[in-house]
Amino acid sequence: MLTISKKKSTQLGWRLYQRTEEATWATRNGRDYTVRMATDQDFSLLVDLLIGLCADSRYLRFLSPVPVFTPERAEYVARQLWLENPWPTQVLLATIREESGEKVIGLGELHANPLHSEEADFALLVRDEWQGQGIGTLLLDRLVALAVRRGMTTMGSEMHPYNKAMRKVLSKQRLPVNFKFESGTMEVEIKLGGQAG
Ligand SMILES: CC(C)(COP(=O)(O)OP(=O)(O)OC[C@H]1O[C@@H](n2cnc3c(N)ncnc32)[C@H](O)[C@@H]1OP(=O)(O)O)[C@@H](O)C(=O)NCCC(=O)NCCS
Repeated sequence: MLTISKKKSTQLGWRLYQRTEEATWATRNGRDYTVRMATDQDFSLLVDLLIGLCADSRYLRFLSPVPVFTPERAEYVARQLWLENPWPTQVLLATIREESGEKVIGLGELHANPLHSEEADFALLVRDEWQGQGIGTLLLDRLVALAVRRGMTTMGSEMHPYNKAMRKVLSKQRLPVNFKFESGTMEVEIKLGGQAG
């Protein structure tokens, strides 16, 4: 008889869960990409994503004029944000296959509030040359589904008030979204489980 230890069963459960998340999609231009959960092994792919960002994308994601990422700085930020974030973090990756290997073209992050488990923060980031092809919209769909499955009721984020792409992505969610202007940035709150009016 096959017996599975508690540790092994947790590992198996996690692998199964990762598999459930994995799916292939097509961009507006017809290029296939995969969406899957990130693991620690993806660290170098995350660093590469940060290093490739243009000034606008850096500004819109980090809401400040962040200089070009050196490899060292990118490693530090990727570790702080996605690997060692004190808020339990799940990262969804959109990836393509190239001759040189797998490449991350988009990322959606969900950070569960440790004090209020029904609340999460989220953020999206799509590689410059892949923006405008539906990837951000899909990643937000998947993050919402993930948060709903985890019993969360709200997802919040901070965005630049003139981030038109992000506003468009949010408008496609068909969920109630509250916007609040706060010290130069826009606080966004998606109400999960409710229908847009
Ligand atoms: C915001 C972001 C995640 C959106 O991802 P994306 O893959 O480009 O989004 P999508 O292609 O799914 O949708 C973007 C929509 O905005 C529209 N859009 C883009 N720029 C726009 C602009 N300047 N004015 C009006 N609409 C704009 C696109 O046409 C598209 O709408 P459509 O599907 O009706 O054509 C991506 O642009 C990005 O990473 N930006 C930099 C980082 C950032 O802003 N992160 C958000 C902080 S939480």
